[in-house]
Amino acid sequence: MKKFNRTTVTSALPYANGPVHIGHLAGVYIPADIYVRYLRMKGEDVIFIGGSDEHGVPITIKAKNEGVTPQEVVDKYHNIIKKSFEEFGITFDVYSRTSNKIHHETASEFFQTLFNKGEFVVKTSAQLYDEVEKQFLADRYVTGTCPHCNNDKAYGDQCEKCGTSLNATDLINPRSALSGNVPIMKETKHWYLPLDKYEDWLRKWILEEHKEWKPNVYGQCKSWIDQGLQARAVTRDLDWGVKVPVEDAEGKVLYVWFDAPIGYISATKEWAENLNAANKAQHIDKTVDWETYWKKKDTRLIHFIGKDNIVFHCIIFPAMLHAEGSYILPDSVPANEFLNLEGDKISTSRNWAVWLHEYLIDFKDKQDVLRYVLTANAPETKDNDFTWKDFQTKNNSELVAILGNFVNRVMVLTQKYYDGRVPERRNELPIENSFRASLHTFRDKIEEDLDNFKFRDALSTMISLARYGNKYLAETEPWKIFKEQPERVKTILNIGLQICANIAILMEPFLPFTSEKLKNMLNLKNKKWSDACIIFDLLEAGHQLNKPELLFELIEDKIIEDQIERLNSTKEQNKMTETTITPAKPDITYEDFAKLDIRTGTILAAERVPKTDKLLKLTVDTGIDKRTVVSGIAANYDTDKIIGQKVTILVNLQPKMLRGIQSQGMILMAENSQGELCFVHQEKDFENGALVK
Ligand code: MF3
Ligand code: ZN
Repeated sequence: MKKFNRTTVTSALPYANGPVHIGHLAGVYIPADIYVRYLRMKGEDVIFIGGSDEHGVPITIKAKNEGVTPQEVVDKYHNIIKKSFEEFGITFDVYSRTSNKIHHETASEFFQTLFNKGEFVVKTSAQLYDEVEKQFLADRYVTGTCPHCNNDKAYGDQCEKCGTSLNATDLINPRSALSGNVPIMKETKHWYLPLDKYEDWLRKWILEEHKEWKPNVYGQCKSWIDQGLQARAVTRDLDWGVKVPVEDAEGKVLYVWFDAPIGYISATKEWAENLNAANKAQHIDKTVDWETYWKKKDTRLIHFIGKDNIVFHCIIFPAMLHAEGSYILPDSVPANEFLNLEGDKISTSRNWAVWLHEYLIDFKDKQDVLRYVLTANAPETKDNDFTWKDFQTKNNSELVAILGNFVNRVMVLTQKYYDGRVPERRNELPIENSFRASLHTFRDKIEEDLDNFKFRDALSTMISLARYGNKYLAETEPWKIFKEQPERVKTILNIGLQICANIAILMEPFLPFTSEKLKNMLNLKNKKWSDACIIFDLLEAGHQLNKPELLFELIEDKIIEDQIERLNSTKEQNKMTETTITPAKPDITYEDFAKLDIRTGTILAAERVPKTDKLLKLTVDTGIDKRTVVSGIAANYDTDKIIGQKVTILVNLQPKMLRGIQSQGMILMAENSQGELCFVHQEKDFENGALVK
């Protein structure tokens, strides 16, 4: 094992184009926070870096739609996001933002260094261009059909359905997201990072030297590398972002995925500057240097991210750092899979999410309940599902029934029998001896799991200590023997209290608010991680405890039903507004079109075709003749309402037998996304038989 003396922990910078939801918390910020709190409690040198990702196309699109500037969009969401993180106890050492000056300077300098070293390839190529908006279309500025899975709502950087990352020019039938126009191709110049050049190096570094990475991360890297890496454009024709700092780059900015990870570095600089200034102001003779955390070989760099960020943190950013030459590389990238909500993918645009700022309105002061449920359910190895029912069960049968119940019984009995003073322990029985001998295994197991980013398992071990405590009380029943064996009860409650105190320390990384509350109740001060499960007597006999309070409370069915109800109405609303536009069909020639003989006509008679739901037998005056047409419009039109209706009819469609009736031609109807039909109107009352062309 390599020896490290400090750790730099980063967590993905969320896009400042919306608030954060439970998926963000479960996938990235809770695991990162648990890990950092754990290292801090062990007394290690660690910094925890976060911030908002404020560039990129979704932000400019949002600004345009709302008629505000991109800066106004990011200001708004940066503040909401930052507040949510604070409220949930995510303890960043710095929460920065990429629209900061220091970031623009840092990213710009980084680009310049690679440029000066000749690390970029410059290429001019034809790219999609919106002639109306006078703008090149990259990334989310274009939508179209995915060439891999046919999803007609794929973006110019990625298809969210099949997960493939795309170039805008890969899309079939591309459309401008700005104007809906069909783009043209226009030449433009860009700077590319030649990933192909680093392929062998990446193969060795990841596939040989980091076999210990999580299987989901290693697997994705392997698949990328095995497919062969290509040069990636790191600049864009946009005006929102970090200006490309070289000549002949007017109107160009750095690609958001080039500047964002550099945001970790800029944030570290900001942290160091602030801390140094604060120390100086307080006459503390201590300075920190940001470079120590990014360049020293004995610093360990860890990126907490979601699975859609793997390629950027394992391949592209390391390639950038490697090309620059003076930086360390990530030691591990513990990426999580996705958290779904009630069986469906979380989606900002469909409002299918539990938003953190809204959660706290309905579940005031219950941050730890969510932290607990999201950790217990963390999508560490596969996608996982958050359901409100499971949220309730975990609260009621684990937090309340196991953890809260154990602590409460010990505290209340101590209050009742000894006025809240820790009783003395004498004459242990074998049950207590063997427990004391095995206590250290709880901490050992938690440490081993945390060291390997197995947060669910670590949490479950912490709970199992409370479970053990409950079992111990059930077996010894102090409330039954208080009269007959007062000395024995002192020993039992002393042991119970020591377990509570150990739990108070072990739970801190996971449930910091509850840990704080429990420590206050126990009047437990200045204990370190290393005291847990080693010093058995965390509380001395005679130590005065504070008044017991409940750590958790039951969540009633009604509260949960309201949440489910809210999601159901979101679903209903989405169904109503979701317009599923049929993808465009392939081009045809004018000759193809001219073969169609379409005319104006009038319905003269109509009757239901027996034993069918949809079919009407119509007599239509086409101007050429009066003929029979069988039409599937019975669900939308009654026979008596359509006599005299003007229609548009395809007259040269081959006759066809339908339910024993020969149908000659077809009435043209428009169909909406709900499958409703309507006639295609003529603006003026033309005679029957007028040609539609
Ligand atoms: N904003 C990106 C996302 O939400 C994550 C950026 S991580 C960083 O997917 F490395 F670029 F900062
Ligand atoms: Zn696809």
